[in-house]
Amino acid sequence: MSTPIIIDTDPGIDDAAAISIALNHPDLDLKMITTVNGNVNIHKTTSNALQLKAFFNSDVPVHQGAATPLINQPVDAEHVHGETGMAGYEFPEANYDLLDSENAVKAMKDTLLNSDEPITLVPIGPLTNIALLLKTYPEVTDHIKEIILMGGSAGRGNVTPAAEFNIYCDPEAADIVFNAHIPITMVGLDVARGASLSYDAINELQSQNKTSNMLYHMFNHYHGDQFGKGIAVYDAYTILYLLHPENFTVEDAAVNIELTGTYTKGETVVDFNSKTTNAKVVLSVDKSKFKTMLFDALSYAK
Ligand code: RIB
Ligand code: CA
Repeated sequence: MSTPIIIDTDPGIDDAAAISIALNHPDLDLKMITTVNGNVNIHKTTSNALQLKAFFNSDVPVHQGAATPLINQPVDAEHVHGETGMAGYEFPEANYDLLDSENAVKAMKDTLLNSDEPITLVPIGPLTNIALLLKTYPEVTDHIKEIILMGGSAGRGNVTPAAEFNIYCDPEAADIVFNAHIPITMVGLDVARGASLSYDAINELQSQNKTSNMLYHMFNHYHGDQFGKGIAVYDAYTILYLLHPENFTVEDAAVNIELTGTYTKGETVVDFNSKTTNAKVVLSVDKSKFKTMLFDALSYAK
């Protein structure tokens, strides 16, 4: 039985890895891809999502979402993902005939309310679209099975010493999502610290299949967090957690979002000692299983 999911994304090289798995894995039923401003602007994230849709000749709909955070001015991560957001691989020009005209938030609402089973939301970019969905259509709450998001950190940040990029971009949106009383699993920066994707493994991707080769080229242009001998493909960890939660360590916690700190705005303040909790926080992955999990998951792609 495959799990129905919606991916909300700001592709993004690690987003591309997550989307490549989700579009092809038999245990996942990707209902739609919604785009958000994040790593690069909304036009580029949407273009990138369309290029991935065409790369896989997928009929999964792509809907464009928020162009800016709720309140903050947009920031980007072009220094990490390149000017296009998916540096390193030359995709054919995005075909905008493939873009569904329905706005992402309205499309998510319609799909959630019309689904015969609750759907798992998998945001792997800033949480702007998800916050707008929950505020605009609160009736969707009971139609969301859980939210498994890439964002935050129980330790240090990556944009500032305190804040991780997805939360930093739109902390007000994150505050709305973490206080929506929906089951949340936070796959933060912590998971990569103990198990980055090694450069040797990246080189092995070159010859696995067409998808792995595409990712090989992009990973070699990814200037994200690097821990020792490898890179942190954060969004891919999120999908792998969805597929194999047994290989990850998770703790219940109270997660609050810092909204006003001069040096700490966007921090996920993770309290493992609170008597009331609002999230499961993924802290690590079994290092001995990570590479096999990723390669197996990618083996379903072309
Ligand atoms: O901090 C890492 C996150 O920010 C990832 O989702 C990456 O794609 C960027 O969006
Ligand atoms: Ca992302």
